[in-house]
Amino acid sequence: MTAAGTPRERDFGPASGTLPATQVRAMFDRIARVYDQMNSVMTAGMHHRWRERAADLARVGAGARALDVATGTGDLAIELRRRGASVTGVDFAPAMLDVARRKAPAIEFERGDAMALPYDDEAFDAVTVGFGARNFADLDRGLREMTRVARPGGRVVVLEITTPRTPPLSWFFKAWFDRAVPALGRLAADPEAYTYLPSSVRRFPGPEELAARMHAAGLDRVRWVITAGGIIALHVGVRRA
Ligand SMILES: C[S@@+](CC[C@H](N)C(=O)[O-])C[C@H]1O[C@@H](n2cnc3c(N)ncnc32)[C@H](O)[C@@H]1O
Repeated sequence: MTAAGTPRERDFGPASGTLPATQVRAMFDRIARVYDQMNSVMTAGMHHRWRERAADLARVGAGARALDVATGTGDLAIELRRRGASVTGVDFAPAMLDVARRKAPAIEFERGDAMALPYDDEAFDAVTVGFGARNFADLDRGLREMTRVARPGGRVVVLEITTPRTPPLSWFFKAWFDRAVPALGRLAADPEAYTYLPSSVRRFPGPEELAARMHAAGLDRVRWVITAGGIIALHVGVRRA
């Protein structure tokens, strides 16, 4: 924002990591068909392992009810299902949900907005979000909604990319994210989406601040693990009674 409080052009748009919800949804609908392959190329296949760790932190087993918010093409929901839970995946991009449904017909994939989840209070034993929170138009509102639909004592897990702070990984990360990822995006014919990705990661809060905001949303015992050489943060908290 300028001193006068009016947004400047560079404060809004793919390069700033901030887009209105309608544009975020349209962008994910556009890239749905290449999303899984791009993840595998960009992470050398490691993204599956990160979702496994997120599902482990949710601690769900047979009989548990789990919700995966911003489920996209459904990979984290599938991990939760593998642990025996009954799983619902919710997302606002229909084309992403179509891919998810084809991969896992046994999971309920539903259209809905993370800013106003279409579920009752305390409906789930665990609520997860993988690589989705940084796209929320209002992060605090999204965290409050995830907490609202978790039962008291239930777990809320946030898996997100984070910016490594110490060299040499910070140099590598910058080169990879600022140059290689947008170049890959041009190859995938969606430069805007893959310019937005690194910018949205840069503007997302660091691990301490995210933990504080999860606490403010109604979660206790918030802790986090940084993995993959400092580029992945897994946060978990327990809903206050
Ligand atoms: C980077 S993808 C992550 C998909 C998946 N969770 C994964 O692990 O690959 C982000 C997803 O968040 C969804 N999303 C962003 N904001 C949302 C909102 N307010 N409500 C529902 N879905 C949202 C997008 O449609 C997209 O599918």
